[in-house]
Amino acid sequence: MARGPVFSFEPEEPVSPMQDPENFYKSACDWIKGNVRANEHVGLAVSGGIDSNVAAALLRDAIGENLHLIHMDHGFMRLIDGKEESELVAASFADYPDMDCRLDVRERFYDAVSGIEDGDQKRAAFRDVYTTVLNESMEPKGCIWTADGTIAPDIRETRGGIKLQHNVDLDFAQKKLEPLASLSKQEVRALARYMGLPYLRQPFPGPGLLVRAVGVYSPDKLDTEKKANDIVEQEYLGFMRRRYGRDMVIDGETGLQIPFQTFAATFDNVMEERPWRASPGDSMLAIRLATRATGLVDDGTDYRRVYKRPLVVFDGDRSYANIAERAAQLAEDNDTSRVLYCLGEQGNGPFAVAIRAIDSVDVKSAVPNLSGDVPYRAASRILDELPVGMVMLDVTPKPPATVEYE
Ligand code: XMP
Repeated sequence: MARGPVFSFEPEEPVSPMQDPENFYKSACDWIKGNVRANEHVGLAVSGGIDSNVAAALLRDAIGENLHLIHMDHGFMRLIDGKEESELVAASFADYPDMDCRLDVRERFYDAVSGIEDGDQKRAAFRDVYTTVLNESMEPKGCIWTADGTIAPDIRETRGGIKLQHNVDLDFAQKKLEPLASLSKQEVRALARYMGLPYLRQPFPGPGLLVRAVGVYSPDKLDTEKKANDIVEQEYLGFMRRRYGRDMVIDGETGLQIPFQTFAATFDNVMEERPWRASPGDSMLAIRLATRATGLVDDGTDYRRVYKRPLVVFDGDRSYANIAERAAQLAEDNDTSRVLYCLGEQGNGPFAVAIRAIDSVDVKSAVPNLSGDVPYRAASRILDELPVGMVMLDVTPKPPATVEYE
């Protein structure tokens, strides 16, 4: 199938929503109206994330009833307080002129990723089904445009070969409209805030929990991941709300967002046979998980993703002093991208869960967030409620780790 041309909004005068959101908003609406003719229809898939929310609201304001939304229930969405996020997303767009709620395509996605171990291949398989389903959904609505919430880092990372995003360089039959293509995450947040949309939400990978149910997909692993992820989010949100009265705090001077993301990743509970000493003269015992996860190698000018087996450390010095520096050193000494502290073990549960919580400004780099006893509380709930044999806390900064695991 021939790929349609891509139209990305690049303001002529550099205008950032952080300094002047009104100007950006108006220029973006004008740009959309200048490209989409009065009788042309535009389709857009909304995920519930900030980027597609902002794109949808901009398009509604610019072209009204000629906008058609769909929400794909691909099966890898989160649970939020025990409720499927997909239901919440569908409800939040109920007042849009045309919204196809919860298009159930779960089996097609599960079939496509079945048996694949490599994270990049899982991302590629996800992307293929995503493109096909979108193409199929646009045709009956007579859409000759597909719009989306692609932002500048998505394009940079996909084309730079760093990480295959699900929304860049797809084989869409339609013309593609990218109103946010010039923006960073912080700029989209500023625009969302100006437009009265939720703007303090965690980023969530396009392929969702598929890349947090690490290694080969199975329904049980996904089910455990959904519940463990919900527990971790609940515990961190509870802590932030009790202590600060809000979900996250952004430092006015540095822009550091605390926390930037909090989530769980689920591995098969399979490790090397025996633990060994993580560094000479140290009492700390370490072992490696069998499934690889991503990290970053910085070659001076840019960085490259690598897959390495995470190091799990037992009996470590659990004080949090300099923990990120120590983890980075341990990672280097042991040729791994991530260091996970064992928080608790129980029986032979088939899965091992890693808790990941980070603070960051722009997610190019990140440090672990170690809020009080939150990881321990989350770990004890996960061990009590789920078929999990071990819970670990990821204490690795980015780099050498990535935020996500695939
Ligand atoms: P990494 O894992 O590369 O993640 O350190 C950096 C940030 O990107 C988010 N992320 C994604 N966002 N589509 C997205 O829109 C994706 O496929 C995707 N993968 C990772 C990640 O959650 C983090 O905020």
